[in-house]
Amino acid sequence: MPDAAYGVRMRVLVSGGAGFIGSHTVIQLIAAGHDVLIVDNFANAKPTVIGRLESIIGGHLQVHAFDLRDADQTERLFAHERIDAVIHFAGHKAVGQSIKQPLAYYENNLGSTFVLVAAMARHGVSKLVFSSSATVYGANATVPMKEDFPTSATNPYGWTKVMIEQILCDVAVAQPSWRIALMRYFNPVGAHASGTIGEDPSGVPNNLLPYICQVAVGRLEKLRIFGDDYDTPDGTPLRDYIHVEDLAAGHVAALARLTSTDRAVSTWNLGTGTGTSVFNMLHAFERAVGRELPYEVVGRRTGDIAASYADPGRANAELGWTATRTIDDMCVDAWRWQSQNPNGYPDA
Ligand code: WQD
Repeated sequence: MPDAAYGVRMRVLVSGGAGFIGSHTVIQLIAAGHDVLIVDNFANAKPTVIGRLESIIGGHLQVHAFDLRDADQTERLFAHERIDAVIHFAGHKAVGQSIKQPLAYYENNLGSTFVLVAAMARHGVSKLVFSSSATVYGANATVPMKEDFPTSATNPYGWTKVMIEQILCDVAVAQPSWRIALMRYFNPVGAHASGTIGEDPSGVPNNLLPYICQVAVGRLEKLRIFGDDYDTPDGTPLRDYIHVEDLAAGHVAALARLTSTDRAVSTWNLGTGTGTSVFNMLHAFERAVGRELPYEVVGRRTGDIAASYADPGRANAELGWTATRTIDDMCVDAWRWQSQNPNGYPDA
């Protein structure tokens, strides 16, 4: 069996592997020479994504369809399968929903992590890459954001990420052989170049790019721009949009780094280091579609901040990883997925 492109070939359990970022990471893990097992409860993903993934990789994927909060099924998985490392994506991730349903968010995101990490400890699995978020920098961080900034949150979703980061730091103290990576994403967008997998939010999208995609395919009437009176070049907020393929590559690089680092917990920003405004993202998408898209400037959305973008210098230096795809690449790839799949993944 070939060694993984980055060195040691591993058998990697990907929780939430049927999701947007998880599915793209599965493709790149396999391309790098790793074996992959997916565990997903399909609460926020369609089973049809698996067939799409198998077509891309040209092979079969091992999928375990259950909820990580189920301790018995999780124990059976770790007892019966050799697992060398875990990439943990599974979790609820909608900021607005978390404000309305805080207990559901804490119970799901923390509960699933408790069960997963306990099973890892029982079975000697000591490498973990955790899907965290730039939201842990809170509402008052300066830009560009650096990994040594203090963490806080302004919503239950963000607090689950802050709390899980702390929990994993404490686990690392208790388990000195563990190697843990905390990956802080900024704004993942785009899709695999095949156009057969992509972002497929359930219901009306909260995030900018999937909303624009659905306007472009006629599922939504127009984009509402939440405020153009921020202290930014064009008045709309700046965000560090990163292509999901660059994000996936960052996870493969972080996993490889865990086989060689002697640091118990590593934190890495995965971003481009550049802030892009809402208007600039809209106009980039119009270039991809080849026509103007309808929008209306409305009031600010509660909780939004003017600017959020990464200092990716540590990941660049320590992982040998850099985001390479441009805003136009992100929009072209997102549009290919959405135009080929106007209603997202089929139900069956
Ligand atoms: C981006 C910009 C909006 C929708 C969120 C989470 C964060 C992370 C990424 C998980 C903002 C504007 C948006 C719309 C708009 N998720 N916008 N009209 O808020 O930066 O981050 O997703 O980790 O945790 O907070 O992303 O895409 O919602 O918004 O004008 O219909 O687009 O005001 O300026 P955000 P977003």
